[in-house]
Amino acid sequence: MSECSDIVQLEGVTRAFAGAKAVDGLSLKLKAGEVMGFLGTNGAGKTTTIKMMLGLLAPTSGSVKVLGGDPSDPRIRVHIGYMPEVATYYPYLNARELLAFYGGICGLDAKTVRSRTDSLLESVGLADAAKRPLKTYSKGMLQRAGIAQALLNDPDLLVLDEPFTGLDPLARIHFRELLRNLKERGKTIFFSSHELGETELLCDRVAIMKKGHCVYQGPVKDIAGDGATNLERLFLKTLGEAK
Ligand SMILES: Nc1ncnc2c1ncn2[C@@H]1O[C@H](COP(=O)(O)OP(=O)(O)OP(=O)(O)O)[C@@H](O)[C@H]1O
Ligand SMILES: [Mg+2]
Repeated sequence: MSECSDIVQLEGVTRAFAGAKAVDGLSLKLKAGEVMGFLGTNGAGKTTTIKMMLGLLAPTSGSVKVLGGDPSDPRIRVHIGYMPEVATYYPYLNARELLAFYGGICGLDAKTVRSRTDSLLESVGLADAAKRPLKTYSKGMLQRAGIAQALLNDPDLLVLDEPFTGLDPLARIHFRELLRNLKERGKTIFFSSHELGETELLCDRVAIMKKGHCVYQGPVKDIAGDGATNLERLFLKTLGEAK
């Protein structure tokens, strides 16, 4: 682990696609046990940042350090849980088989995977659907399977790209509780979202992106206290959209 317990350390990170900067000079630190929400309009650079944080995309310039090392290093990756924005799973696998597949990729032994599978599927509300092929799942059920997949390796750092999308209100509440429990266990969580209410309820800090630039980073407690409205006000103000 890096000095001063930074779990994620981005320094001046820029990523350009065909000359256009999707992320421009982003510096961001995440300490152990912190929950950070990553906000911004569509196309602001959130997913691009997350992919660089995971070593799935190389920065054009700047440095990315996760858990004290290079996130593309498999020894680092085994400690990261990731739920992508859009996941494409093998449609003929059921949820149980999906977790067995990802467990193998993570290098977990079959016994550990089996022992975690029941409680994970229970915690995301998929226990009754565990033997149905994923092609029969609704959008929210696939999202739940993705959450279980991201937690399978009991990661130290959890990176979630729009995890609340598609979840019904009950699943949202359960998922919020799940994330809170993980935080209580000392896990570090970074998630992008358009759900300001969930972000305000869950996060210690937020970062707001606009056109590749980080226009705000700060603690939620300074602005929280009024449901989603305070964060909504801050969001609109930092984007220059406040009335
Ligand atoms: N592979 C790619 N090739 C070219 N441009 C890309 C690529 N990936 C992302 N971009 C561009 O980079 C910018 C940031 O995209 P990104 O997916 O990071 O946004 P986002 O903040 O995650 O948006 P959303 O809220 O819609 O998910 C957009 O202008 C997008 O078109
Ligand atoms: Mg995105």
